[in-house]
Amino acid sequence: MEIFKSKSDLLNAIKNHKGALGLVPTMGGIHEGHLSLIRRAFKENSIMIVSIFVNPIQFDNAIDLKKYPRNLTRDASLISEISDKIKIYAPNQEDVYGKKIKPKKYSFKKLDKVMEGIKRENHFNGVANIIEFLFKTFNPENVYFGEKDYQQLQIVRSLNKILRMSINIIQCPTIRSKNGLALSSRNQNLTSNEQSIAPEIYKCLLDVKKMAKVNSYEEIQNEVSSRFLKIKQCNLEYFTISNPKTLEEINSTDSILGNRAFIAVKIGDTRLIDNIELS
Ligand code: PAF
Repeated sequence: MEIFKSKSDLLNAIKNHKGALGLVPTMGGIHEGHLSLIRRAFKENSIMIVSIFVNPIQFDNAIDLKKYPRNLTRDASLISEISDKIKIYAPNQEDVYGKKIKPKKYSFKKLDKVMEGIKRENHFNGVANIIEFLFKTFNPENVYFGEKDYQQLQIVRSLNKILRMSINIIQCPTIRSKNGLALSSRNQNLTSNEQSIAPEIYKCLLDVKKMAKVNSYEEIQNEVSSRFLKIKQCNLEYFTISNPKTLEEINSTDSILGNRAFIAVKIGDTRLIDNIELS
């Protein structure tokens, strides 16, 4: 398994490759959700890079940044079970941003003014900086993102247009535990009691999907709010039904089907997000 700390060493190692280059950007803390993206990318490309970089400028909270799991040996070993031909790019900050970070500012119009964009100031701008760096450095043909971070996926699609690049942004389904909880590196911060509560989020989304066929938006909102009010460890940060492309919240008179429901719930100290297509 080759782990590259430097972009120039990695570019040198792949300079003669033929066929499609696939990229799976990660911050490490590799779990089955990432592995499913990596498996798919490995099948669909002749050469593949997994980047592992805890991007400091996408964190709005120093504690979150400090708590983020960092274990390159474990991550590399999980990736090598898929194939030891996969190239891991695990740079230090200087290889990505130079000696001093000077974040670029983007305009994503309304896409970053809703949901996570309100709760986590500058988060998407930070994500866009690292993604632009990876896109421009490696110029991949296919890049893989999970649907769990659906707003991020739409931001990356918009970035691809802003940069006038024509990379294929591949949307992959959310991977869940047996109890329905969407896999996330944040899940490991849940206490065992919180772990037993967290599957409520997906259960609620499944009920929203059923209600979407017969109930109004207002009735659905009331049901979701009252459900989480009953669980004292939970704080419902937002629940919204929005257009899947623009992420704009629907009006009470709009048809619900064809849109997407988004939710963020704080359980104890851990924020969890999830979403579901309402078809
Ligand atoms: O989703 C993530 O893990 C990160 O936001 C990403 C896309 C790797 C950028 O740092």
